[in-house]
This record gives sequence, structure tokens and C-alpha cells, in this order.
Amino acid sequence: MADPILEVRDIRVEYPTPEGPARAVDRVSFAIHPGEFLGIVGESGCGKSTLLFAITQLLTPPARLAGGAVVFKGQNLVQLAEGALRTVRWRDYSVVMQSAMNALNPVKTVAAQYADAMRAHGYADRAAIRARSREVLSLVGIDSVHLNSFPHQLSGGMRQRVMIAMALLLSPELIVMDEPTSALDVVAQRSLMVQIKALQRSLGFAVIFVTHDMSLVGHFSDRLAVMYAGVIVEIGPTRRIFDSPGHPYTQGLLESFPSVYGPKIPLKGIPGAPPNMVMLPTGCRFHPRCAKVMERCSIDPPELYEAEDLSVRCFLREAAHVRCA
Ligand SMILES: Nc1ncnc2c1ncn2[C@@H]1O[C@H](COP(=O)(O)OP(=O)(O)O)[C@@H](O)[C@H]1O
Ligand code: SF4
Ligand SMILES: [Mg+2]
Repeated sequence: MADPILEVRDIRVEYPTPEGPARAVDRVSFAIHPGEFLGIVGESGCGKSTLLFAITQLLTPPARLAGGAVVFKGQNLVQLAEGALRTVRWRDYSVVMQSAMNALNPVKTVAAQYADAMRAHGYADRAAIRARSREVLSLVGIDSVHLNSFPHQLSGGMRQRVMIAMALLLSPELIVMDEPTSALDVVAQRSLMVQIKALQRSLGFAVIFVTHDMSLVGHFSDRLAVMYAGVIVEIGPTRRIFDSPGHPYTQGLLESFPSVYGPKIPLKGIPGAPPNMVMLPTGCRFHPRCAKVMERCSIDPPELYEAEDLSVRCFLREAAHVRCA
């Protein structure tokens, strides 16, 4: 297999709070290969967005990177100065955040925003910029007449497509997406997912796709990482996890897909809510909600136990692994 395009190693992020640091991301590690589609799932508040901000070097105070490395094509992004990062961002990897309305400049047309992004990376030829802007818009199925539109003149779905097209402008090798479809209705969500997948297949970029809705990535991701309370609790091939999830949290998520609308609702398969990151439960972070909790679960923290192609942070997996050996 080719070398990974991105290696995330032991990433830790904290938010200071009056009660002490909230450890939103705690020693997260994974790698992603060229052209691979990795889904990251977990309930709201589990640290998914914070992790993406840390990977893309877009963390802003009060968030603090407390440790770890993000190695992109052999270069540790954590050690790069902001100028060097600006060169890499958009050209080598790009980012699509949850709300295009926040990411787009409301007082500039789509054409002007695309031109700004391209000029910042050394493109000066107006005709070439215009041609590439048309091209990426057509890739996401938007008529080039909308180059002259302002963000507020577009529907929510079109704005997200405009953002995805912008992420494609410089043909990056990796696109990082944080719930890019969550503001859309179910039909628009599906059609955008199909489109993202088709683009990924034809253009060959890798994707990290964050969502709280596991059903959304089931058909589209090659691998899945499940996050709970700042840590990865399960990671492996998507098919494998859907067929036979290893972690009780993943089993709970699969039993009940949360609604994409409205307020947070308790998941059918999992009572309670994710913990406060300042006062994490002892032992296994999931133990207060776990249907399979054992005595040792509230005392020792489980490791990520690897068996075959799946890694699972649960003592039940350790036992299975030992019995197999
Ligand atoms: N500005 C902030 N100040 C303090 N804590 C924060 C802040 N933003 C996020 N957090 C903490 O980080 C955790 C993870 O948040 P986030 O990364 O947004 O999760 P997700 O994207 O999975 O919903 C939250 O549960 C919260 O404890
Ligand atoms: S380690 Fe224990 S509490 Fe944690 S998920 Fe496994 S069985 Fe449940
Ligand atoms: Mg989030």
C-alpha cells in the first residue's frame, strides 16, 4: 500500500475552563492513504470538530494544542509557520466546514472569492482564474452564471456546493469536511453525498468526513473512526463495523440513528449523554452508559485493542483477542 498522505499522531487539544482543562481531544492517532474516504462519527460534543481544527491547523484560542503531530506528506504541520501553512492549505488540503454561510464572505461574489483564493496561491491570469472557477462550479452541478451571485442569493444546498467547489479549486489531495450536509434536508443531504463520492472517485482526492449521523457515511466511507469523549473507541473498515461493531458505543449508535433535525435527543440504544470533558469518568469513559459494563471498567482505562483489521477500545475485545490467540 502507498505511504499515508496524512498521519495524525497523539493529538491532544484542551480548552481551559474555570473548572480546569476540558480535554476535548485526547491522544487521537490515525492515518489516511491517498484517495481514501475516512468517516469520523460520534455524538455531538465528542470532539470531532476540535480534532478537525487541530488537523488543519485552524484551532483558535481558547483551544490549545497540548501535544501531538500532524504529518502531511512527510511534513509536520504543527511546526509550520502561518505563512507556510497558508501555502499548503487549499493547495494540498482544503477544508469544508459545517456552515458555508460562516465560511463564505457575505459581501463578495462567488467569483471574487474564488479569485482571491487562487491569487493567494500565485495564479495571476484572470482568464485562467475565470475558467477554473467555471470548471469547479460545473463539477458540483452549478451553472456558471452563479459566479456573479452573492452567498445570500444561493440556497443552503447551493452554498455548500459552492464551498465544495472552492475546496476543489487547486486540486488538493485531501479534503477535510465537517458535517457539510447537516444544514440540508434529507434529500439534499443524500444527493450532496452522492456528488462528493463521485468527485472523490473521479478526481482521486482523500476525504476525512465528520458527521454525527452514522447512516450518512455507511455507503460512502472506506474506513470509519468512532469518537467518544475525545478518544477513538473504534476504527476499521466501514463494512466490517456496520456488519459487526466491536464497541458497545458503536453498537448503540447503529441501533439508533439520531435525527438530523432539531434538538439533541437521547439515542435509543444508549441512555444518557456524553460526559463533561472536564470531569471524565474514571476507567472507561463510556462505562456510565455501557450496557455491558464490568467491574474493572470503572477502574482501568481500556486501550485500543487491535485484532485483525479492527481496533476497539473495550475490555471485551481484549478478552476475545486473548481467547483467539
Ligand atoms: N469554546 C469552548 N470552550 C470550552 N470547551 C469547549 C469549547 N468548544 C468545545 N469545547 C469542548 O470540547 C468538546 C468537543 O466539542 P466539539 O469538538 O465541538 O465536538 P463535536 O464536533 O463532536 O460536536 C465539547 O464537549 C466541549 O466540552
Ligand atoms: S470497557 Fe467496559 S464499560 Fe467500556 S465499553 Fe467495554 S464493556 Fe463497556
Ligand atoms: Mg462539530
